[in-house]
Amino acid sequence: MTKIVFITSDDTKYEVDVPVGTSILEAAHSNGVPLEGACEGSLACSTCHVILEEAYYKKLPEAEEDEEDMLDLAFGLTPTSRLGCQIIVAENLEGMVLRIPSKTRNED
Ligand code: FES
Repeated sequence: MTKIVFITSDDTKYEVDVPVGTSILEAAHSNGVPLEGACEGSLACSTCHVILEEAYYKKLPEAEEDEEDMLDLAFGLTPTSRLGCQIIVAENLEGMVLRIPSKTRNED
């Protein structure tokens, strides 16, 4: 299990233990964390956008081009943004903090 911390835009904190190999989107959904994920991980939306701390961002494998394309459409994109459905939990992500932006494109 790897501990992951989600922080929503109203500063609600969710600390969850996630099995290695689970995506961040699945981890959020199975723990009642309000991360949207409208396309359920098929890279057809950007509503699973999360913002990472730089140290953890650097630990992740680089985003594929498809993810980059969808990220370009995400609201409030930052240099350490990723799509939650594309982040797979690994042991070296222990303690990773993810911020969930306040808006997603679906709400614009
Ligand atoms: S859930 Fe749609 S791109 Fe991640």
